[in-house]
Amino acid sequence: MDENKIDELADVLGSTSRVAVLTGAGISAESGIPTFRGSQGLWRQFRAEELATPEAFERDPKLVWEWYDWRRKLIGEAEPNAGHRTLSAWQRRFPSLSLITQNIDGLHELAGSRDPLELHGNIWKTRCLRDGTVRENRDVPLSEVPPRCPDCGEWLRPHVVWFGEPLDSRVLDEAFRLCSSCQVMFVIGTSAVVHPAAALPLAAAEAGAVLVEVNPEPTPLTRAADFSFRAQSGGLLPLLDRKLGTRRAP
Ligand code: APR
Repeated sequence: MDENKIDELADVLGSTSRVAVLTGAGISAESGIPTFRGSQGLWRQFRAEELATPEAFERDPKLVWEWYDWRRKLIGEAEPNAGHRTLSAWQRRFPSLSLITQNIDGLHELAGSRDPLELHGNIWKTRCLRDGTVRENRDVPLSEVPPRCPDCGEWLRPHVVWFGEPLDSRVLDEAFRLCSSCQVMFVIGTSAVVHPAAALPLAAAEAGAVLVEVNPEPTPLTRAADFSFRAQSGGLLPLLDRKLGTRRAP
């Protein structure tokens, strides 16, 4: 790991007030949750088209819910790692830190991050197909598959964004606003291939922000990044935080 680049970034952050962070599945990899793409990716065992789409749910809601029930069990046993915890601590280090995540695992909130902007929803929430009511449901395993609405008995669906579905426009507008007004944007653990999330770092760079990528592998974002660390977030972020500790009060 390039210590000089980390020192250089710590110097930049020493005089930074507004930070935006976009995370992807990679920040949860060290918590034991498989990423989607790449050699260890989840999609190697499952095909996205068979599971994470409205058509798949229409065709076989039981199969889709069995997959989410399996992921909920896996995620339910996972703990936030040092990467999540560092980002939670940075809420006190920076006057303005906006955390935007593509992850639905809830680990940022579990690590103490307040109100992460969840672009793709949350695996612990369900939505009634009849009236759209969103509820928290942490049953592991689910009491019935597919689960039913306690009010009307209609089937519930996961409150997540599936392929081919639009993101909540208010959430997305807020994400672009935060990224376009930050001084430094971190992009951590994402392959940067799924839009519109992948466009957020470019909006930040266009607005003049310093772009910092943390990923063991290069991505389409790498060449646009001012700093690109070929590193795991669970190691890099605490190291950077220790360097920050000598430059600005927590
Ligand atoms: N630290 C940092 N990055 C890591 C780590 C780690 N320890 N381990 C893996 N990575 C990187 C991988 O190199 C990869 O680039 O995390 C990235 C994970 O990429 P994806 O699996 O594509 O996950 P993500 O970018 O979040 O996917 C975006 O696609 O499937 C949909 O809705 C789903 O939110 C998801 C979206």
